[in-house]
Amino acid sequence: MSEVELAGKKKLILISGRAHPQLSADIARELDTELHPTEARTFANGEIYARFGESVRGTDAFVIQSHCAPINEWLMEQLIMVDALKRASAKRITVVAPYYPYARQDKKTRGREPISARLVADLFKAAGADRIMSVDIHAAQIQGFFDGPFDHLFAMPVLLEHFRAQLDPSEVTVVSPDMGRVRVADIWSDKLGAPLAIIHKRRDPLVPNQVTVHEIVGDVEGRVCLIVDDLIDTGRTIVKAAEALKNAGAKGVVVAATHAVFSDPATEILQSDFIDKVVVTDTLPIPEDKRWDRLEVLSIAPTIANAIREVFGEGSVTAMFDGAA
Ligand code: R5P
Repeated sequence: MSEVELAGKKKLILISGRAHPQLSADIARELDTELHPTEARTFANGEIYARFGESVRGTDAFVIQSHCAPINEWLMEQLIMVDALKRASAKRITVVAPYYPYARQDKKTRGREPISARLVADLFKAAGADRIMSVDIHAAQIQGFFDGPFDHLFAMPVLLEHFRAQLDPSEVTVVSPDMGRVRVADIWSDKLGAPLAIIHKRRDPLVPNQVTVHEIVGDVEGRVCLIVDDLIDTGRTIVKAAEALKNAGAKGVVVAATHAVFSDPATEILQSDFIDKVVVTDTLPIPEDKRWDRLEVLSIAPTIANAIREVFGEGSVTAMFDGAA
């Protein structure tokens, strides 16, 4: 092989933050590779330090970090890792953020509010990221907040496969728990060949994390209701929806959500009798004490690994989803 050919050879490296090492290890295993040796630690005053144990010069680097609590710390760690890669001459840097942090703050709903999802994109850019990869971002337009390629992956195929094997579509009604999820729920309804119902949810803008259900649009009586959402945080959206559905005569309520944020009191209230099963992915770590018998966790690692393979090999990420969204 000539020197010119050698110089053109690309090398993929996977860097893992400290938030969810299991997911990074699973992605590495799917790609039949190892994580790049990385040292990361936190000083007594809270400042974070990161350094790579081997050269990263000329590499196609993917920095994997899950943004669970303490979210600001893990975001900062990822920024610092991107900065270290840039200063050590990595050729291309991709931020892999399976759960995009601050995605729910994607617009001003009242005066004098920030647009934090945009700020996060700017921070990634300023640190040196060339591209971003994320799964089921809260609002698709967040892709446009980053001035560069944004690979938006979908957990739907993984979740759909699970429910196709578990449910009889002729009994199912797909339920959007609020107006914001209608488009995604509509795709679920098409894929399953099941009707759609929509819940009119209200939040008081002055009281965080409180939810009231106003009305259900659609036929749910005697049906198995499959609520689909991008994330479960405190669990109140899902529990209130499930309660309303059961009170309206639903014979079962199952839940599909991509991101298990599970802030308190989620794991306690999700065990409500109104909910028969909750199925999530592992974009975020779910410790043992936040699991229960009617929770099922599906692996997102193959989806992310395939996307990394496509990006590195200059293939197609879109083709992976075959019109899933
Ligand atoms: C709302 O727009 C989101 O899709 C989720 O439904 C919501 O953020 C979940 O929050 P919680 O679980 O705290 O109700």
